Amino acid sequence: MGWWLNSGVWTMSMIIIIISSVQADSPYRFLDWRVTYGNIYPLGIPQRGILINGQFPGPEIYSVTNDNLIINVHNDLDEPFLLSWNGVQLRKNSYQDGVYGTTCPIPPGKNYTYAIQVKDQIGSFFYFPSLSLHKASGGFGGLRILSRPLIPVPFPEPAGDFTFLIGDWYSRHDHKTLKAFLDRGHKLPLPDAILINGRGVSFSSSLTVQKGKTYRLRISNVGLQHSLNFKIKGHHMKLVEVEGTHTVQSMYSSLDIHVGQSYSVLVTMDQPENDYPIIVSTRFAARELVVGAALHYSNSRQSLSSASTVEHQHQHPGDEVDWSIKQARSIRSNLTASGPRPNPQGSYHYGQINISKTLVLESSAGLVRRKQRYAINGVSFVQADTPLKLADYFKIGGVFKVGSIPEKPTRGRRGIRLDTAVMGAHHRDFLEIVFQNREKILQSYHLDGYSFWVVGINRGTWSVASRREYNLRDAVSRSTTQVYPESWTAVYVALDNVGMWNLRSEFWARQYLGQQFYLRVYSPVPSLRDEYLLPNNVFLCGRASNRHITP
Ligand SMILES: *[C@@H]1O[C@H](CO)[C@@H](O)[C@H](O)[C@H]1NC(C)=O
Ligand SMILES: *[C@@H]1O[C@H](CO)[C@@H](O)[C@H](O)[C@H]1NC(C)=O
Ligand SMILES: *[C@@H]1O[C@H](CO)[C@@H](O)[C@H](O)[C@H]1NC(C)=O
Repeated sequence: MGWWLNSGVWTMSMIIIIISSVQADSPYRFLDWRVTYGNIYPLGIPQRGILINGQFPGPEIYSVTNDNLIINVHNDLDEPFLLSWNGVQLRKNSYQDGVYGTTCPIPPGKNYTYAIQVKDQIGSFFYFPSLSLHKASGGFGGLRILSRPLIPVPFPEPAGDFTFLIGDWYSRHDHKTLKAFLDRGHKLPLPDAILINGRGVSFSSSLTVQKGKTYRLRISNVGLQHSLNFKIKGHHMKLVEVEGTHTVQSMYSSLDIHVGQSYSVLVTMDQPENDYPIIVSTRFAARELVVGAALHYSNSRQSLSSASTVEHQHQHPGDEVDWSIKQARSIRSNLTASGPRPNPQGSYHYGQINISKTLVLESSAGLVRRKQRYAINGVSFVQADTPLKLADYFKIGGVFKVGSIPEKPTRGRRGIRLDTAVMGAHHRDFLEIVFQNREKILQSYHLDGYSFWVVGINRGTWSVASRREYNLRDAVSRSTTQVYPESWTAVYVALDNVGMWNLRSEFWARQYLGQQFYLRVYSPVPSLRDEYLLPNNVFLCGRASNRHITP
């Protein structure tokens, strides 16, 4: 199996060092990754991309529930670099989250070895570069966590299992130019294309299948901003998994996939042996972009070439928000199916737990000192000189203040304030988070370290009465949710994972310009049962540079 790296390059002492911070009784997978610039040709013409081991998109990570992934990342770029793991919960271990607030960047020419455990998780996720606008140039890849043997999966083993990384793409600007736009105070220009697994020319890629067989497709939106619709002409998709939850298996003719989200579907090849377009198109967008890949039956005589045009129309007339909300509400957990453990996913009755606190998070956009900024509850996040998690660990004062972002929007105050926004929360609290969107665009939010139950989605303004329409029985549990224009989304989350966790807009320009904060899930009595020690291979930077890690 290709992903098993020869462990001979690892010295014993290194392995011991790393093992001390992850669980020693589960299998290890060692990966050695080199991050470089290189020419890529997503639209046929050369562009500078960010490659991992020469690949764009990067290599896919295969793992099984509870595996320890030891990933040595060598940064050969000319800029600091970090990878983050979208949807991987990193239990007790926010040090390995690879975002600005948790981890010092890997300096150019240096390497850092992530040690992460995919504890108690299954499903389809992805990794991505979290700093700057690196994501606009590549550096992302799929990450799948398979069920352990003997844990039942609620559908037969598919004949094949394929990853589709889809996302909007800039062919005329790389991450440095895009970052420069934002740093000068401008908004991002509209993207040029959509890529499917790194290809943006229609039908330049194909998936070969056999008639009569059923395949699993894992689809993640790894783009910067646009919601995308995914469909396969002539075929229906049976939804089976969303970000680690086995869903009620319903049929869909197309799926809306918002930035940062991942879905698994089963598709049965029950049509005449031809080629069929797999169509990915923008939704809720100012300009429509479309790309196709070919679904190629092995005995097909009729092939789609890049000369074929993508015939495409949305088959769902009427309001695209209404249509999409209806689809979002239809996505539910299968309560009797097993998740990462043999017991059914419905055994945790989230609807019967008392809420300890309600957060209402409202975004806004505006100018601060004549530069574009984005905020949550009036606070636009700015990075401190030291990762917040390290400041906490070494008890370095003055880096951030807990409570620097309010838990509800402050009515009447319309301005935007810059701050290193950190919200405090208690370990074992049970939160209700309402994402209120008064803006006219669709948004997508992600919480690191957790998955949450999406209990309600509707148009308009949330109020206490909105709780009456919550799904308290079989809501889907996931880590990324959309919030429709001038609408709200409510989620429940059990704060069972101590750490410093990033809550952010998945629209990368908004995240970069402040629409994010950190949720500091805190236990007053530090205990190794609740949180690991700082791994002793981490880089120290900022005001933590001169500190010593005591094992
Ligand atoms: C960098 O990689 C080398 C092996 O190539 C390894 O010995 C070293 O521990 C790594 N450094 C970190 C910080 O992980
Ligand atoms: C839910 O999961 C069970 C157990 O694996 C399975 O038998 C059933 O078909 C699934 N139901 C739906 C509606 O997906
Ligand atoms: C929830 O709160 C109610 C009223 O305060 C209380 O009676 C009940 O026992 C609580 N339930 C749980 C599960 O803590």
